[in-house]
Amino acid sequence: MATVLALETSCDETAAAVVCDRTLLSSVVSSQIDLHRPYGGVVPEMASRQHLVTIGDIIKAAITEANLDWTDLDGIAATCAPGLVGALLVGLTAGKTLAMLHQKPFIGVHHLEGHLYAAYLSQPQLQPPYLCLLVSGGHTSLIRVNGCGDYAVLGQTRDDAAGEAFDKVARLLGLGYPGGPAIDRLAAQGNPTAFALPTGNISLPNGGIHPYDSSFSGLKTAMLRLIQKLQANGEPLPVADLAASFQATVAKGLTKRAIACARDHNLSTLVVGGGVAANSGLRQHLLAAAEQHNLTVLFPPLSLCTDNAAMIACAAADHLNQGHHSALSLGPQSRLSLTQVMSLYAA
Ligand code: KG4
Ligand code: ZN
Repeated sequence: MATVLALETSCDETAAAVVCDRTLLSSVVSSQIDLHRPYGGVVPEMASRQHLVTIGDIIKAAITEANLDWTDLDGIAATCAPGLVGALLVGLTAGKTLAMLHQKPFIGVHHLEGHLYAAYLSQPQLQPPYLCLLVSGGHTSLIRVNGCGDYAVLGQTRDDAAGEAFDKVARLLGLGYPGGPAIDRLAAQGNPTAFALPTGNISLPNGGIHPYDSSFSGLKTAMLRLIQKLQANGEPLPVADLAASFQATVAKGLTKRAIACARDHNLSTLVVGGGVAANSGLRQHLLAAAEQHNLTVLFPPLSLCTDNAAMIACAAADHLNQGHHSALSLGPQSRLSLTQVMSLYAA
């Protein structure tokens, strides 16, 4: 059993949490959304500075909420890749410093491995192998999970990530930042079949389509053209119908590819992770298709879909149980494939 304090500062949430294996002891998240909203997206320099201001109090709150003493911890972890380098540096430096001070092992964690581990906190019995659909602001992939640190990427987006598409289309519709939750709310009042949109298939050079890869840039352009056409007609924009049609198109495409991938690879469990896993349209489509094909689909609770440190602590605890820990010379990396997770741990 490993009790771990983890810090997450890869983007615009400052978070700290304590987990004992797959049991959540505390989770504190301070969102910077209000700070970045006027700019329509995350301003990296401002994110780093705000993490520095917030992180001390967030760590204290996580330790207090867990009702633990520093001596009760078996390790200290922080997200080290991928993400905004200046933002990652804050959590990473704080984590390494605390590990040195309290003489605990330090565990650097891959942010996407964290998203994947979010499901274990609500489903502690979950065991690999299974398929994971990771849908966040920066990534969209289908991953075969073989075990801790052992991943194979079976499908991915060729351009924008699903969350990025939600954010960009929300901007086109004049909705606020972040766009995903705004589209989700509005879609509930619209007609999902009002507009036919491209589902983002990838054509193969010798004909046919790639079964698991996707593209979101064509869908985004189709939305732009449609909005321009409606505006040129001088009609008020049917914003709810546009949001509902866009959301249903994304949900249908992701569902079709995820179900095909699970079936083709004989995986009976599909785990969904990342901010877009909170989307109600995606949840509905996946649950309906999974039932039809006799698959189990698992979603983390909404609070664990978007960025948090509990998922990072859960991944770190598993690595610590396997004897993995990181060198104190570990630095932040803006990009790192999930298949290279084991490079974060000393031999
Ligand atoms: O996983 P996450 O918190 O951060 C990254 O690692 O990127 O994901 C953030 C993304 C944003 O693009 C946001 O718009 C999207 O997740 N998102 C949603 C919803 N909630 C957050 N997208 C669709 N529907 C939602 N309910
Ligand atoms: Zn994330």
